[in-house]
Amino acid sequence: MRAIQITELSGPDGALSEVELPDPTLEAGALMTPGEGVLIDVEAIGVSFPEVLQTRGEYQVKPELPFVPGSEVAGTVAQASSGFEPGQRVMAFCMLGGFAEKAVAPVHFTFPLSDELDFAQGASVILNYHTAWFSLVTRGKLEAGETVLVHGAAGGVGTASIQVAKGVGARTIAVVSSDEKEKVAREAGADEVVRSDGDWKDAVLELGGADLVLDPVGGDRFTDSLRSLNRAGRVVVVGFTGGSIPEVKVNRLLLKNTSVVGAGWGEWALSNPGYVAETGAALAELIDGGFVRPIVGARFSMDQAAEALKLIDGRGATGKVVLETA
Ligand SMILES: NC(=O)c1ccc[n+]([C@@H]2O[C@H](COP(=O)([O-])OP(=O)(O)OC[C@H]3O[C@@H](n4cnc5c(N)ncnc54)[C@H](OP(=O)(O)O)[C@@H]3O)[C@@H](O)[C@H]2O)c1
Repeated sequence: MRAIQITELSGPDGALSEVELPDPTLEAGALMTPGEGVLIDVEAIGVSFPEVLQTRGEYQVKPELPFVPGSEVAGTVAQASSGFEPGQRVMAFCMLGGFAEKAVAPVHFTFPLSDELDFAQGASVILNYHTAWFSLVTRGKLEAGETVLVHGAAGGVGTASIQVAKGVGARTIAVVSSDEKEKVAREAGADEVVRSDGDWKDAVLELGGADLVLDPVGGDRFTDSLRSLNRAGRVVVVGFTGGSIPEVKVNRLLLKNTSVVGAGWGEWALSNPGYVAETGAALAELIDGGFVRPIVGARFSMDQAAEALKLIDGRGATGKVVLETA
């Protein structure tokens, strides 16, 4: 099979090589119990920030070189130890090995792909939407009728979080940095949009404030996130695309009974198959209800993987970036 490996840690431009490799088997894979799992003929591969970091050796998962990156795929089942039939359309989280024509994933991390979604959308669901559900509902205790402020709202986690929040019955305010990203946030379903280069905190307060801030960006906007919250508000920390890790003056947390909550989906999900199944079922309902429709901002062929990573690295990505094998 054709695959893309990371062969050196020199960043998106030089790190990737296209190679021929033997097909994977159910005997081995990043998250596999030998003999149990699903072998997938891959049609589409989700590309995300962690793969950019992996080309520099800066992500917490640091496999030995060379390795095939790629945490999620969509395609058809070639072989399954249980639960799935050959030919069935699926989406799956494999953690590594996704940048390839075939990939293996555990049964509990493989889900039927709804006919409502194409393969590229299927490759956009697991990482971002499971993270959004975990961050908003499990960690952030979001309830219907509340208002959610989403930073990086045109990005992968951002667009997913807008749609999951809407599915839960919340109102959403998106924070974005450009006109193009504003369009994407609105396409995702944002009720209101404010600009990160303007006085977004006051704009949010004028809109009635937020009950929950979902923050995949970090950096210097953190204090204004706290200030934009209503009483008993929550800031859910998801990531740091802005580059720097904010610090909180904890006296601020007393002013309006504020919680700052961490959401590390991988840490939770990788050790908890039952939770993964519950989230998959909740998201299947949101797909059926028309709330979850991943926005694929860019599609590349597999041999353009470096271009895909550079788009994310340069802050140019919107929605999900996807590689296609065909
Ligand atoms: N905690 C978890 O479980 C978990 C799970 C999945 C992902 N993540 C993390 O969540 C973060 C977001 O992932 P994503 O896939 O949504 O990324 P993405 O699609 O690239 O979106 C990130 C957004 O961050 C904003 N941003 C602000 N400053 C930036 C900068 N200097 N460089 C790049 N982007 C910048 C951009 O929006 P504007 O230009 O509009 O500001 C961009 O749309 C990543 O750090 C990822 O590792 C965490």
